[in-house]
Amino acid sequence: MNALTAIRSDPGLEDYLARLEARLETAVASHPGVLADVVKESLKAGGKRLRPALTYLSAPPSQRSGDTCLIAGVAVELIHMATLVHDDMLDGADLRRGQPTIWVSHGRETAKAAGDYLFALAFAELGRLDDLEAIRALSGATLSLARGEALQRRQAFRADTSVEDYMLRASLKTGKLFEASCRLGGGDVRMGEFGLDLGVAFQIADDILDCSGDFDTTGKAAGVDLRDGTPTLPLILASRTDQEVARALSGEHVPDALERVVASGALEKSREVAWSSAASAREKLAGAAGVDALYALTYAVVDREG
Ligand code: IPE
Ligand code: IPE
Ligand code: MG
Ligand code: MG
Repeated sequence: MNALTAIRSDPGLEDYLARLEARLETAVASHPGVLADVVKESLKAGGKRLRPALTYLSAPPSQRSGDTCLIAGVAVELIHMATLVHDDMLDGADLRRGQPTIWVSHGRETAKAAGDYLFALAFAELGRLDDLEAIRALSGATLSLARGEALQRRQAFRADTSVEDYMLRASLKTGKLFEASCRLGGGDVRMGEFGLDLGVAFQIADDILDCSGDFDTTGKAAGVDLRDGTPTLPLILASRTDQEVARALSGEHVPDALERVVASGALEKSREVAWSSAASAREKLAGAAGVDALYALTYAVVDREG
């Protein structure tokens, strides 16, 4: 299931996402050339647009249809896309959004430049808001993303990575951008805390899907994390009970490692942790008005197939 299906019925969201799409296309095409062409392909391939949806749904209802919310949503989606372009190169991932990744189709130099183009576009867009707080929030999240990716390189092939260190990585890589997404449209600090917890739950679900997901719904190949030695929560937990998985995560060749992860019960244990992060996100919504869709999302981000 697309995690957004659960909230499509929110009045106004469909229209917001249509306006967002148009503005993303304009931003990407603003400097015609190879990079604009390459990035346009990845934009057309789709994606859930979950982060801008969060910007919209976290904003006070009276501010949702304004330009601030739209521009902020465009900026967070552009940052997200930039990180995906670079992340795929670092992870050696061949497929994204059902298509070959940019570094595979166009080479590493173009992928590096395409990611940089997207980062630059994001901040050009955000600059239009003339809001120093918004710039601080998004640049902070972008720095966290870079730190998260660096931490992932340091943890690579370390089957003994602690759950705590994994959770730190998940919050840096994913939680912080969710947090910023929930603040930039006008959401308060509590809304940001909601985003952070939701992002961690979302990343754990992604890491489960990397073990057992289906390309038709995720648009990505499974098994990339194990192949890269990335100690995700399911792989860490499976390594604790199955030495063969620990060997595989340390970089040794174990042909049936992914089947062993599934058989170990680690996916179910990881989902429990994701549910607890989602429940913690839900607590942050207590007392807030107009948050039914966000409430539904706390279930949809964990219980999803794509
Ligand atoms: C993928 O994010 C990167 C993670 C943080 C796991 P999404 O699953 O939101 O990617 P798209 O935008 O829908 O393609
Ligand atoms: C999230 O981690 C990536 C970013 C935050 C850029 P993953 O490496 O698991 O994301 P996917 O699976 O490639 O989408
Ligand atoms: Mg990746
Ligand atoms: Mg992943």
